[in-house]
Amino acid sequence: MDDQFKKIISHAKEYGFVYPSSEIYEGLSAVYDYGPMGVELKNNIKSYWWKSMVQMHDNIVGLDAAIFMHPKTWKASGHVDAFNDPMIDNKDSNKRYRADVLVEDHIAKIEAKVNKEVAKAAKRFGDSFDEAQYKSTNPRVMGYLDKMQGIQDRLNEAMKAGDMTAMKTLIEDEGIVCPISGTKNWTEVRQFNLMFSTQLGNIAGEETALYLRPETAQGIFVNFLNVQKTTRQKIPFGIAQIGKAFRNEIVARQFIFRMREFEQMEMQFFIQPGTEMKWYEYWKETRMKWHRSLGTPESHLRFHKHENLAHYANAAADIEFQFPFGFKELEGIHSRTDFDLGSHQELSGKKLQYFDPELNENYVPYVLETSIGCDRMFLAMLSESLQEEVVPDSKGNETTRTVMKLHPVLAPVKAAILPLVKNKPALTEHAKKIFDELKLYTNCQYDEKDAIGRRYRRQDAIGTPYCITVDFETIEDDGKVTLRDRDSLEQKRVTVAEAKAIILENCSEASLLG
Ligand code: GAP
Repeated sequence: MDDQFKKIISHAKEYGFVYPSSEIYEGLSAVYDYGPMGVELKNNIKSYWWKSMVQMHDNIVGLDAAIFMHPKTWKASGHVDAFNDPMIDNKDSNKRYRADVLVEDHIAKIEAKVNKEVAKAAKRFGDSFDEAQYKSTNPRVMGYLDKMQGIQDRLNEAMKAGDMTAMKTLIEDEGIVCPISGTKNWTEVRQFNLMFSTQLGNIAGEETALYLRPETAQGIFVNFLNVQKTTRQKIPFGIAQIGKAFRNEIVARQFIFRMREFEQMEMQFFIQPGTEMKWYEYWKETRMKWHRSLGTPESHLRFHKHENLAHYANAAADIEFQFPFGFKELEGIHSRTDFDLGSHQELSGKKLQYFDPELNENYVPYVLETSIGCDRMFLAMLSESLQEEVVPDSKGNETTRTVMKLHPVLAPVKAAILPLVKNKPALTEHAKKIFDELKLYTNCQYDEKDAIGRRYRRQDAIGTPYCITVDFETIEDDGKVTLRDRDSLEQKRVTVAEAKAIILENCSEASLLG
């Protein structure tokens, strides 16, 4: 695991962002708990998403559907038959893998060889090095690239056709070994359904299989007409929802990137059939802007167009973020056609149609979906913001600080109120008064323990954008406090009212949405 990633995981635990679930019992694989700082950051992410998607759009409304749904829902949605991952076991290590991930990891190893050759050549040629030309002319690199493409094509074909035999042959042909045992002693590749099931005892003695929802989207589809009728929305309009989803992931790794219980923020936008490509482009851009608005640089975000489309989509792209382990999916934008509403209509026998007064006709609307994992967004923000920086200490010497440069709107604590020393009631009482006033407006912390420098470092480590220090001058002289800015380290004397105005203005969602 990359060093930076290890630091993120240990920082997240040390400062109360994320803990392994039921840790006293050795934890539960791919399940995590959010600590006091984590829950604030997560709530802020959800709140900013909700405000941007629901409150800022006249034609998008909210919903909070139940996690349990009628079992037929998952038959209609295709999840019972097609929500599978190909899995394979190694008979020597007894470890289970996702077959496609084994192949992708194998491709990544070849890519690492390409990158090594490129780095060597860049060093040799210096400023005159042209990477694109090198890759298209160097025979060894060209060989690697051809091989990668060949494997990728075979993988895509096998996945598209659901051909598990072809997948096994690919693993054998490439001589892929188990990372634990180092052997090629593989089982056949089998399809593994990712839904968790449980039982509902409704009528005495009779039990019905229930699924924990693997996506929040279906709660929106089955409520489409309820919402449309009660809100009298006209197409195009959207329904948004934030909620838990559950997937029995075969490969559980990379911390909160791939969890078995996670949270999604999804929006289904109902549109006229035939207009989906226009809305697909619109939502791709709108969602990309949302990510950039939080300060994520363009170079850390990119689109990835899907070649293998899910069973319900006619166009799809991911917004990928540069995680410490490479560019990976953060959010999906799918054009879901009328697949879901059409299937629910068919299986339930209930009409899920919209009467379009402009066209004077009934139709099953098409749907454009934006779907982002809240936990993945959380990990993206942790990775983006956690930094080590060399800064001057109070004596002007260089020191290293760990700081989370979270956008102030997302920061768990917006301001820390700090009396310069702890055993002077004049200072502590004054500081507490400021704290009692400010906490009515935003999330603040009062802290009097340890030297002021250490308290600043603690606040830097949880990403608090502002510290207010109450010192002797505040009491004896001007009533002004010192306002310290986390990023610039600038300290300025301001009145409490001025400090409050600066904090509230820069930490409010309105600063991003206005
Ligand atoms: N309704 C569409 C849907 O569920 P998806 O691409 O399977 O599409 C959407 O999931 C988003 O949910 C992903 O982009 C990702 O951010 C998040 N997600 C999916 N599986 C996840 C998991 N096991 N752990 C954490 N987040 C996950």
